[in-house]
Amino acid sequence: MITIASIAALKAALKQAKDKGQSIGFVPTMGALHEGHLELMRRAKKENGLLVVSIFVNPIQFNNKEDLDKYPRVPEADSKLLESVNCDILFAPEVEEMYPEPDTSDYDFGALGGVMEGAFRPGHFNGVAIVVRKLFEITEPDKAYFGEKDFQQLAIIQQLVKMLNLPVQIVPCAIVREADGLAMSSRNMRLTVEERRVAPKIFQILTKAVSLKNVLSPAEMRHWVWEQLSAEKAFRLDYVEISDDRLLQPVEHWNDAPGAVIFIALFLGQVRLIDNMRIF
Ligand code: PAF
Repeated sequence: MITIASIAALKAALKQAKDKGQSIGFVPTMGALHEGHLELMRRAKKENGLLVVSIFVNPIQFNNKEDLDKYPRVPEADSKLLESVNCDILFAPEVEEMYPEPDTSDYDFGALGGVMEGAFRPGHFNGVAIVVRKLFEITEPDKAYFGEKDFQQLAIIQQLVKMLNLPVQIVPCAIVREADGLAMSSRNMRLTVEERRVAPKIFQILTKAVSLKNVLSPAEMRHWVWEQLSAEKAFRLDYVEISDDRLLQPVEHWNDAPGAVIFIALFLGQVRLIDNMRIF
């Protein structure tokens, strides 16, 4: 694996690979890698000639300075994990390299951008869109891989690619969970032992809710999940939503949408966790 920090050096390395006819599989990350990331990378490696991973904690997608400061940074452990999946190129730029000037692009994702994470984290998706577009323009990947844990982010990126006709195929990948059901996330490493013990309740409650889909309406299921999560004192809920799987708008009747997904966001101590589960 080679580690590259400059855009010019990355472009030169990628040109060599492209000249040899190698396809490029790209996995953008903010580091603190876990098995969920590694699954994306294994798939990208299998489906492409070259695996390129970026690690860049993108400051402009954090709407909370403390969250940015506390975001886990473990470069040595990350490098070992990247070697274990035979990553070819790690792109790890500094902030000045990515943003020599502030990028003032302002994207409008319509209804998709206004709900859930869009409503609770103002500016977050604009920051994601700016950095992902830049990374795509620098890397020019054939395929880019994103996890469904960040389901709304994935939908935003798919919309961005359509809006701008970006020549990249977005490959969605299933959520990877710990043995006890907790969705893997870089933020999990900030949970205390006691919080980590409580966290799998999210998965248990979502699983039970989905099993009740034939007896509960969407509103009843949403209420049931809200009540169950609220009963756990350690959880502070941001939202519970049952939404269609395209524009992520609230579903009133199960047959309103071909696909429905339940989404939650909550704080466990200082750590904000999100999760989702497909209902139909
Ligand atoms: O999901 C993430 O880790 C980030 O939002 C991404 C896509 C790498 C953009 O910074």
